[in-house]
Amino acid sequence: MLAVYASDIDHEDPLRGLTIGEQPEPRDREDWRTVSVKAASLNHHDLWSLRGVGLDRDRLPMILGCDAAGIDQDGNEVVVHSVVSDPSWRGDETFDPRRSILSERHQGTFAEQVSVPARNLVPKPPELSFEEAACLPTAWLTAYRMLFTRARAVPGQTVLVQGAGGGVATAVIVLASAAGIRVWAVSRSEDKRREAVELGADQAFEPGERLPERVDAVMETVGQATWGHSLRAVKPGGTVVVSGATTGDASPAELARVYFLQLSVIGSTMGTRDELERLIGLCVSKGVRPVIDQTLPLTDAHQGFEAMLSGEVQGKIVFTV
Ligand SMILES: NC(=O)c1ccc[n+]([C@@H]2O[C@H](COP(=O)([O-])OP(=O)(O)OC[C@H]3O[C@@H](n4cnc5c(N)ncnc54)[C@H](OP(=O)(O)O)[C@@H]3O)[C@@H](O)[C@H]2O)c1
Repeated sequence: MLAVYASDIDHEDPLRGLTIGEQPEPRDREDWRTVSVKAASLNHHDLWSLRGVGLDRDRLPMILGCDAAGIDQDGNEVVVHSVVSDPSWRGDETFDPRRSILSERHQGTFAEQVSVPARNLVPKPPELSFEEAACLPTAWLTAYRMLFTRARAVPGQTVLVQGAGGGVATAVIVLASAAGIRVWAVSRSEDKRREAVELGADQAFEPGERLPERVDAVMETVGQATWGHSLRAVKPGGTVVVSGATTGDASPAELARVYFLQLSVIGSTMGTRDELERLIGLCVSKGVRPVIDQTLPLTDAHQGFEAMLSGEVQGKIVFTV
């Protein structure tokens, strides 16, 4: 079958190992289901994999892609939940130390077919297109968990999101605004700041800019480039939720600020199947739709990876199969 996969790992030049070609179809496994992929979306995770973060050379070739929507072998339209936990694990899958997400240990979604445990399939509502549904299981689910489960943000609060153009960040803007939370967005690009406001942000700021007041919570995925600003932006007793560090994590922790202002620094990773179902329900009931920057055929995957690498993206890049 046609697939987009990592054939090599190069930390400095990640696209060197990006290959489009034939890979074996998934083999049948008990309690697993094969999905004919209709759409899959690109995440920064796919670039990390090509750089060798979370993917060892001995697992190559590895089909990339964390999330997808498609049709299962019984003809049902489904969304694929990407967190594969151990079969014996009970409770929140994201806390299973043996969990992985698709394309780390099990072959990913950038292919004509993907195979996952039966419990990782969630019904796709007809209101969402395959392309929209394919944006939800990684970036949008991460944003949902950061906001509602980890920060416990409630209507009337103010949340700051860093790197406003990113897949996770645009999801934070749309979800928070739909939930009655005031969102402030930070982006390096004037165009992205304008688009953030169009998406529902109350105001948008340049990196490091002084805010009108301190916020209840900050949603961090950028890391080193924005960490200091995030800690200065949050009010005493407030929360910084961090789910990524695109620019690295070598910045000072600013521990004095953390303890003196009694800040909570909270990690967040992906989300549970239940949270994915609730996110899908929210999209349907509130008419919320993922922000899609561009849709490309899988055969043009290089173009999508190059756009993400350059940082010139507003929202999600979707591949259709
Ligand atoms: N823990 C998890 O489960 C989880 C899940 C999803 C994602 N992540 C992580 O979260 C991060 C974002 O993922 P994504 O898929 O949303 O990536 P993305 O779509 O590529 O977005 C990254 C954003 O970061 C900002 N950025 C990049 N370089 C920057 C710099 N030098 N200074 C300031 N801002 C910079 C950019 O925003 P502007 O151009 O608007 O400034 C860019 O749009 C990645 O590191 C990813 O691995 C983690």
